[in-house]
Amino acid sequence: MSAFDSPSTLLITCAPDVKSITEKEITRLGYSILDSTPSGIRLHGTATDGMRLCLYLRTASKVLYQVATGSAHNPDQLYQWVNKIEWNTFFTIQDYFSIESFIQNDTIRDSRFANQKCKDGIVDYFSALYGKRPNTGPEKDKIVLFLFWKQNDAVIYLDLSGEPLTKHGYRIHPWKAPMIESLAAAVIQSTQWDQNSLFINPMCGSGTLAIEAALLSSGKTNGHIRRNFGFMHLKGYVAAQWYALKDEALKYIRLRIPFPIYASDIAEEAITAAKENAKKAGVDHLIEFSVQDFKDVVVPRGKKGVIVLNPEYGERLGEEEKLMTTYKEIGDFFKKKGSGYIGYVFTGNMDLAKHIGLRTSKKMIFHNARIECRLLEYELYEGKKVVRVKE
Ligand SMILES: C[S@@+](CC[C@H](N)C(=O)[O-])C[C@H]1O[C@@H](n2cnc3c(N)ncnc32)[C@H](O)[C@@H]1O
Repeated sequence: MSAFDSPSTLLITCAPDVKSITEKEITRLGYSILDSTPSGIRLHGTATDGMRLCLYLRTASKVLYQVATGSAHNPDQLYQWVNKIEWNTFFTIQDYFSIESFIQNDTIRDSRFANQKCKDGIVDYFSALYGKRPNTGPEKDKIVLFLFWKQNDAVIYLDLSGEPLTKHGYRIHPWKAPMIESLAAAVIQSTQWDQNSLFINPMCGSGTLAIEAALLSSGKTNGHIRRNFGFMHLKGYVAAQWYALKDEALKYIRLRIPFPIYASDIAEEAITAAKENAKKAGVDHLIEFSVQDFKDVVVPRGKKGVIVLNPEYGERLGEEEKLMTTYKEIGDFFKKKGSGYIGYVFTGNMDLAKHIGLRTSKKMIFHNARIECRLLEYELYEGKKVVRVKE
């Protein structure tokens, strides 16, 4: 028996702001959720289920397969516990592994010490069996283990994702201040876009929002783009099973979508980067790119859809003043051209957002890296009075 046919607990981690969306993604795949914490969702499953989750989930961070739970008061007890686990079931002496962790234990100050003790326990397990040690280090492209240790309670997992699932595998060029791919997927799923109407993305930068919109509406998954996941290095992994899951997912792919996705940016380099990223994601044929100022973007009249902008937030000194005008112009653009659409602005600067000067119909909180951001919604329906608010 390997992890691929032994049921255990799967823990899906995600950013707390996107948990409800990740939960929906999980239940749509037919899984029942056991329980959840602000940034983790637990369910029953095998590593084969975990493989399927890695294939489809767009907003999650990691898919973890529980190997063992234990009790450890201090680092020595942690070592003893880890050393007794049958690691041979999961990987071999030839495999390279790395350890990540979440630690809250009063007996240690530096979590790296706990990782080292955990690593020693595993290495010594293999040394006792074979007289040599497996290779270890920081790389996340082979076997990745995750240690959760809170006071006396310890849980150790196999990280089936390896590199976090927040990376969707198409970003060759980041250009400036790109959005985390999983966040862009969550932002789109938080809009009222029905995936069958126009998606207009001025200020597209490296194209993350437009690419995620194309992936979502065409049904193409991250598993079709990423070449490497943690589960591929585990004992019992059968490549044919992974290809069968990918083939199954191909049945739901739409080669064409009913409306084009429009992506534009004032910077030519941004559009060059966005086109290359879209090509790598295999969705370049679904997006119409152009170099232009957002104020010149043509919003087709009499059609429906969403307009999503992610302007700069002015993190450096002196930038804010210039950006005040940009935010005011976004408000003017929505008012003049957005009739019939729903407008969205994703920003980390609420002082600047006030300069948009329109009444929001919804404000949703997200974190991009460590910055608290808002997705602001503006209903610009035809005939509806777009309300100007005082700055
Ligand atoms: C925060 S970045 C967008 C990042 C993007 N969401 C991504 O994931 O790569 C803002 C972008 O707005 C563009 N921009 C700034 N002023 C603009 C304008 N007046 N018209 C169009 N694009 C503009 C910048 O070139 C930059 O690429």
